[in-house]
Amino acid sequence: MAAIILDGNKIAAEIRAEVAAEVKSLAGAGVRPGLAVVLVGNNAASEIYVRGKVKSCEELGIYSEKHTPPDTVSTSELLRLVEDLNRRDEIDGILVQLPLPPQVDSKKILMAVDPAKDVDGFHPVNVGFLSTQRPGLVPCTPAGIIEILKRSHIPIAGQEAVVVGRSDIVGKPTAMLLINGNATVTVCHSKTRDLPGVCRRADILIAAIGRAGMVTRDFVKPGATVIDVGINKVTDPAEFQRLFAGNAKREETFRSKGSTLVGDVHPEVAEVAGAITPVPGGVGPLTIAMLMVNTLRAMKLRRAAEIPALSKA
Ligand code: GUN
Repeated sequence: MAAIILDGNKIAAEIRAEVAAEVKSLAGAGVRPGLAVVLVGNNAASEIYVRGKVKSCEELGIYSEKHTPPDTVSTSELLRLVEDLNRRDEIDGILVQLPLPPQVDSKKILMAVDPAKDVDGFHPVNVGFLSTQRPGLVPCTPAGIIEILKRSHIPIAGQEAVVVGRSDIVGKPTAMLLINGNATVTVCHSKTRDLPGVCRRADILIAAIGRAGMVTRDFVKPGATVIDVGINKVTDPAEFQRLFAGNAKREETFRSKGSTLVGDVHPEVAEVAGAITPVPGGVGPLTIAMLMVNTLRAMKLRRAAEIPALSKA
């Protein structure tokens, strides 16, 4: 039986509407959340992501500002910018878009962001809060994955979850959220023995590897929920055939554009999974929606004491 498609666009729209309603009610009390985005240089993919983040703020009534230091910026110049944003009270969230150019010490920059404004949830203080189940800011993509599962009524507690990929941004925090949700969690990586066999144990399989269509049908227990975090551009015709042979719509796109997008999960998996996120339109839209949630949450956590309207929020 074909898998249920978990519609990330629909879930993200629900979350955005909830944030917009709360932002509107806070505006009545004279407070507005604010997000500062730092985009260094001219990385094409980063420019697209940042445009989406700023546009989403505009749509939801969140104040935003974009800082665009040149590609040649030094670590100390960037540190000064972050420290300035840390000091400004109207800025609730700071997001430094990654990757940063090689001359910049990324770890130093991420460490400099005030943990209370760290809407990416990358600061070690927030990583620690997550692993010890204290209130804090959780990375956006992992938080979005949990929202997809919860809002699709897919149980987490007691389930076998397998996370493929151990990145600081997705794999590790996703594993932590699943543990906190009482799943039994296995994290796989390039040295895992019998990767397909381990993945076949999963009731919930999270693919966050960054390799086009690597998770094939032999990785998936029939009926499992499969969450595909990958977004890979396919330009090689042989690779395209491996993934999409016989798919007339994709063949048309590939012919006209010379490329198509695919996740880390092979499209054939939709024939065995019970539920699956599509690419595009699955996890991707949740990342920006959860950034909006985090900006609002950062404001509430940081300003609760000083603004009476927030103590109820
Ligand atoms: N680059 C790719 N994904 C992300 C993300 O979630 N946050 C930041 N800051 N940079 C990214």
